[in-house]
Formats: sequence, C-alpha cells, structure tokens
Amino acid sequence: MSDCYGAIGYPLGHTVSPAFQQAAFDELGIDATYMAIETPTSDLSRRMSEVRNGRWAGLNVTIPHKSAIPRFLDGTAETAAAAGAVNTIYWRNGRLLGENTDVPAIGTVLENAEVKKGIRALVVGAGGAARAALLSLTARSDDVVIANRTRSNAEATINAVTPEQEIEILDLNSPSIGKVATECELIVNTTSVGMSGGPAPDESPLPTSALRLGQVVFDVVYRPEVTPLLAQAAEAGCRTIGGLEMLVIQGALSFELWTGKPAPLDTMMRAARTALATDSG
Ligand code: ATR
Repeated sequence: MSDCYGAIGYPLGHTVSPAFQQAAFDELGIDATYMAIETPTSDLSRRMSEVRNGRWAGLNVTIPHKSAIPRFLDGTAETAAAAGAVNTIYWRNGRLLGENTDVPAIGTVLENAEVKKGIRALVVGAGGAARAALLSLTARSDDVVIANRTRSNAEATINAVTPEQEIEILDLNSPSIGKVATECELIVNTTSVGMSGGPAPDESPLPTSALRLGQVVFDVVYRPEVTPLLAQAAEAGCRTIGGLEMLVIQGALSFELWTGKPAPLDTMMRAARTALATDSG
C-alpha cells in the first residue's frame, strides 16, 4: 500500500502543497499520495490519533495548528522548539517528531535574493509565521522591529522566541510606522492581509509612506502572486519577493525529512506555479 502524506489546517481551500509534493513523489518514483486534509481544531486530536495509528506517514501543518501540535508529539527538533511551532510531522526510529522548516526556508529565500545580513528589518505581524521570521532574521544578525495590530501578541511572540534580545515593537496603525519602516532595509509581511480568501484580500498591511526605493519587501503570502503590498512596493521602487518560493522550500525540506532523499526543487517549483496559475481562486 502506498504511504499517505498530507497537509492539515483549516481552512485549506487555497493550498498548492498537494500539487508540488505529489510532483516530487512522482518524480522520484516513490509510491506515495499527498492530500489536503481539512482539519478544524475540533478534529485535531482525532487526526493526531490517526497519525499514531499509522494512517499518515508524515504531515505538513498550517494555520491554525502550528503551535498546538507539539503536545501530540514525542519530541520536537531544535528549530521547532525554538519557534514554539511545528510545520512538519515525521517519524524517526518509532518516535513521532516535529520540525519547523519555515525558519530555514525564510533564510534560504533571503540568501537566494542576496539580501545583505545584519540589516535593520521590519517584521509585520506576530503570529506563527512571524515567529519563524523573527528566528530566521535574528539568526542573520538582523536588527528586527516588529509591527503588529495587537501589541500583546507581539510581546508574546518576542518572549517565546527571542526573550534575551531587545526587539522594538510598533503599533501597525501608529503614525510613525512610515518613518520606522523606511529606516528598514528589509520588510517581511507575515500577516494574512492581502491574501485571497483572507480577512482583508484587497488591503496592504502598510501605508505607501512605509516604502522607498531600494528596500527589499518579502511577502509570505503567495496567493495572489502579486499582493497589494508587493504592487505598492514595486511602484515605490522596492525589490519584491513573493511567498511561493518560501512555500516550496519549506515543503521541500519537509519532503527530505520524510524520505531522506534530496527534494527535486525545480519540479516542485514548476508544479506549484502551474497549480497557482490554473487555480487562482
Ligand atoms: P500565522 O500562523 O499565519 O502567522 P496567525 O497566527 O493567525 O497566522 O497570525 C496572523 C497575524 O496577522 C497576526 O499578526 C494578526 O494580527 P493580530 O495579532 O493583531 O491579530 C495579523 N492580522 C490578521 N488580520 C489582520 C488585519 N486585518 N490587519 C492587521 N493585521 C492582521
């Protein structure tokens, strides 16, 4: 029987993970199926029992379960423990483990784009994706500022991830957001603002005054490929990076944890682009 893998989250309507993970299994001739497994919070514990019972060989985890997963596992790898969030569930020597591949994926995206290290960087948002960004950017020695709508969530994120570091917090709606943001060389949006099907699909999390020539603006949102923030950034003369590359790289790292084989990254990227183009809803 072929091994079953999947992505759990809620809602999952927009995921392109099945398209590019299946393409990777097929390319390597691995007899496995990867599917979207819509899992509301009320079903999470039942789903994790299925994993224990051998129904799933490995899972990706997305909104809103990343922080809730560790308590169902036998252990978490170092990066997942540091982020307090798991996006990959895998088996190792009979133990069910969790890892966070978002953290290295963000680092790789910035490295691929040759973004300088040790720069002042603004992280917009304070949820699960922001935790990964905070870990990844501080590992690059960037000087990070967090802007979030809810200050207490930003405080909680900093306390959980980088309690020993001085991280400035800014109210996303503060009048000084434009000034602080333009002093940053890198902006990373981790909120769902601008995401199709999200709470504010037509909005940008930042005012135009936050953007200036030469900045790098990275939006982790991948649908649409050009979010309102990225359109605004391109207009202001910023260098823009969309979220699809990060999605595929985090998925490729998950694939390697499951199979122990190098992921066929080009095939995965192509499949993700095709899926995104053919299903733009
Ligand atoms: P994820 O795990 O993908 O990061 P999350 O944990 O639900 O998702 O976090 C969502 C982030 O988007 C939060 O920073 C949230 O801000 P709050 O902490 O104030 O809730 C932010 N967010 C969501 N909708 C937003 C909106 N309309 N305007 C501004 N920020 C928003």
